[in-house]
Parts: sequence; structure tokens; C-alpha cells
Amino acid sequence: MKKVMLLMGSPRKNGNTVFVAQRVLESMAELEELAVEYVDCARLGNKPRGCAACYRCRPMKFRCAINDATAEVINRLADYDIVLLATPVYFFNFSAQLKAATDRFQALVDYDEKGKLVTPLKSVRFGCIATSEGDAESSGVEVVELSLKYLAGYAGLKKIPMLHQITGGTDLTVVAQDRTLDRRAMAFAKKLMK
Ligand SMILES: Cc1cc2nc3c(=O)[nH]c(=O)nc-3n(C[C@H](O)[C@H](O)[C@H](O)COP(=O)(O)O)c2cc1C
Repeated sequence: MKKVMLLMGSPRKNGNTVFVAQRVLESMAELEELAVEYVDCARLGNKPRGCAACYRCRPMKFRCAINDATAEVINRLADYDIVLLATPVYFFNFSAQLKAATDRFQALVDYDEKGKLVTPLKSVRFGCIATSEGDAESSGVEVVELSLKYLAGYAGLKKIPMLHQITGGTDLTVVAQDRTLDRRAMAFAKKLMK
């Protein structure tokens, strides 16, 4: 059984990003039994906020010291086999809701006095689902892809695969009618599960 955490960065509960993420989870569940924790980043506590740059995480060794719901989630990230980041592209990048959570990864990555990377995240497989109204060229999704590349490099993670889905904006009909989605969701699931 694979333990999966989904960090949902779309504030729209029945939106495109949720729709695509559900397809991905269904595909993953066809391959292996899953235990999924769904985290709605837009509604994490009553005050989702990013990293405070307090650096109190450093002596605490891989624990975010902020006393809030985001820290409670971040501090359990290394317990999962797979962590899925799901985001609509907002102004050519992650949504702020997701970014407020991923900035807290800072607590989970450190370098020792010899400059060697120390992190409990190495055993976690990360993946990203990104939806956008624009296409690969115009949407800014390549900024998301580049952020994932740097995140993987910084935290010593395997290459982070991304599933990009073009949508009809708020309208679900484009994704619901996309006959390629099932195939692409399964190919993405296979990358995550291997
Ligand atoms: C604040 C905001 C910013 C957006 N910025 C972009 C953008 O930079 N590029 C793009 O292609 N689509 C952009 N969109 C469109 C969304 O990425 C797209 O509609 C997405 O599929 C919505 O996902 P959802 O249904 O889960 O909310 C933006 C939408 C909003 C609300």
C-alpha cells in the first residue's frame, strides 16, 4: 500500500485541478492500494501563510516551528511514499495557496557543516499536477516546471514529473471531454508508482 499526500493548491472545491487530481488518484489506485490524505491548502486553518523565515526549524531538526495547521502537515511529509502538489497556474506560477505550503519545505531541508544535504524527504516521491487555461507556450506552466526542477535539485529529490492539463478556465467541460486525460493520468501514475 502506498501512502499519498495530496497538497491541493486550487481554492475551487469542484474545479479543474481537483477533477484532474481525482483522475490521477484513480489511476494510481488501479496500480496499487492507496491511503490518501487530502490537504486543502486554501483552507488550512483560518490563516494559511508562508515561511516566517524565523529559522527556528534549524535546531528543531526538520520541524517547522510555526504553530499552525500548515506546520502540522509539513512536519508529517516524510511519512508519505508520494506527495502530489496540485495547482492551477496563477500568474505564471504555483498558486499562492500551494506556494505558502511549499515554502515551508525549508524546514525539511538542511546542509551540514561539510555542506552535505540532510533531509528526511529523500525517500519521498514528489509529483505535480498543473492546470492552466493557456497552453504550454502561453500559460507560464514552464515556470512551474522550472520551479520543480530547482526544488528537486535543492532537496535531493528524484526528478519531479508533472502532468499539465489545459482547461476551459472555470468551465469543467474541456477537461471532462478530453479523451487523452485518462491515458496521460495513467502514464503519470506509473511514473510516480515505480
Ligand atoms: C488568479 C488567476 C490567475 C491565473 N493565471 C493564469 C496564468 O498565468 N496562466 C494560465 O494559463 N491560466 C491562468 N489562470 C487560469 C487557471 O489556471 C485555470 O483556469 C485553471 O485550470 C483553474 O483551475 P481550477 O478550476 O482548479 O480553479 C488564472 C486564473 C486565476 C483565477
